[in-house]
Amino acid sequence: MNELEPRPNPTTSARPELALGYLPAPESMSVLRLRDDYDLFIGGVFVPARSGRRFATENPATEATIALVAEADGGDVDAAVVAARAALASWSGLPGATRGKFLYRLARLLQERAREFAVLETLDGGKPIKESRDVDIPLAAAHFFYYAGWADKLEYAVPGRSIAPVGVCAQIIPWNFPLLMLAWTIAPALAAGNTVVLKPAETTPLTALLFAELVIEADVPPGVINIVTGAGATGAALVEHPDVRKIAFTGSTAVGRGIATAVAGSNKRLTLELGGKAANIVFDDAALDQAVEGIVHAIFFNQGHVCCAGSRLLVQESVVDRVEYKLRQRLATLRVGDPLDKNTDLGAINSRRQLDKIIELYESGISEGATAFQPECVLPDRGHWFAPTVFSGVSPSHRIAREEIFGPVLSVMTFRTPEEAVAKANNTPYGLSAGVWSEKASKVLWMAERLRAGVVWANTFNRFDPASPFGGYQESGFGRVGGAAGLLPYLEVR
Ligand code: NAI
Ligand code: MG
Repeated sequence: MNELEPRPNPTTSARPELALGYLPAPESMSVLRLRDDYDLFIGGVFVPARSGRRFATENPATEATIALVAEADGGDVDAAVVAARAALASWSGLPGATRGKFLYRLARLLQERAREFAVLETLDGGKPIKESRDVDIPLAAAHFFYYAGWADKLEYAVPGRSIAPVGVCAQIIPWNFPLLMLAWTIAPALAAGNTVVLKPAETTPLTALLFAELVIEADVPPGVINIVTGAGATGAALVEHPDVRKIAFTGSTAVGRGIATAVAGSNKRLTLELGGKAANIVFDDAALDQAVEGIVHAIFFNQGHVCCAGSRLLVQESVVDRVEYKLRQRLATLRVGDPLDKNTDLGAINSRRQLDKIIELYESGISEGATAFQPECVLPDRGHWFAPTVFSGVSPSHRIAREEIFGPVLSVMTFRTPEEAVAKANNTPYGLSAGVWSEKASKVLWMAERLRAGVVWANTFNRFDPASPFGGYQESGFGRVGGAAGLLPYLEVR
């Protein structure tokens, strides 16, 4: 066989020695106690929406409705903000160590019920169980542990200045890392003495509502954490509420821009964590097998529904054939399918709407002249699916090189010199993350100084830690999550 020719999928009978492939290994759902209906969480209790309206959240792998969830309108949002405001004085007046104890409790309860959270996250959003089990839930708990530690040390975050909480914080989060985004926004806000109203995304509200049960179990005072479910209109009502002092929004650049316009001229603070089109840069001196693993993880983790995904692969021209060959071989071994199967690498696309967006951009890539490679894989009949895709022959003007696809689609381009790699990597309106693969540390550092990105990973990708600040430049947003820097948006510094 020609070394540069892709081989058939080794998980199929084309490789007799592997003919057994992988037997199904589904995670049990018996740990879940699903309800048919879910209410809002306001002032420490579950209450239905005043209008009585509910919307369905589906399992994107089957298109079956999992449950109906209350849809909050302006009146419900107002009730949640009033509850958060009423709880503010006593919560911020607690000794920091006591607030920390509540956060530690939430972290431990999350760990105790980690399996339940992981299964629910996968069911509601479509991500592989091995990711919700090994990344989303442990990292969410880690954020509560980390910020619990800051709660009684806030003065060291801003030495020599007097500090106070900001007030009621509105947190509007997306569907790609539902529980993790909840932890990202709630943990630092609470540590700093604020109270919150959180709105999860309409396709993935269930883990936030399960988290509300932990809030009750942990005896967090009523009103400190409120959760209102609904779609864009619910989010907009929260943004516009006059008693909200700080808004954290994670999602699309278009909605982020609208929120920035809506709060302009008000005294509301805003942090935005928006899209990305990250460059993942591979030099000819890199350990190529290791780099290929990193490339796969950078773009196919969570089906590419990752704001910091390495969606533009820049490969030094002298090794592009070898990298593309190895990449195709590796793609052929990826297992796409049932998200609850412990062997699954790529789960379901989160929604029909997101799948339509991916398909539209995929087709633009074909019509603009790039060449797509997809391994042979059988996609399930029902549900939303997209095969892992690598585009070669991409030019920087193609839409697939410029626009965020937010799906399992990689665009490969080449460069000759480090200067050219920097110019191409920075040729984007975004600036959230980047990756550099080289055996030479001086080259990595030279690149990191010049890449306009909030995070630069060296010989790795998509690594997160609550102690490490994360955030963007330009149209990727502003403000940082994680570390001491992640406390600053939640503190009034005098
Ligand atoms: P989106 O920005 O519409 O949704 C994110 C959150 O904002 C959801 O909770 C939604 O209900 C809420 N929202 C929507 N309209 C709002 C408004 N006018 N006021 C206040 N809140 C509002 O994102 P969508 O449509 O789900 O995804 C579209 C694209 O956005 C994706 O294809 C991807 O490119 C990008 N995106 C980026 C994310 C990131 O992590 N940076 C996360 C999700 C999407
Ligand atoms: Mg869902």
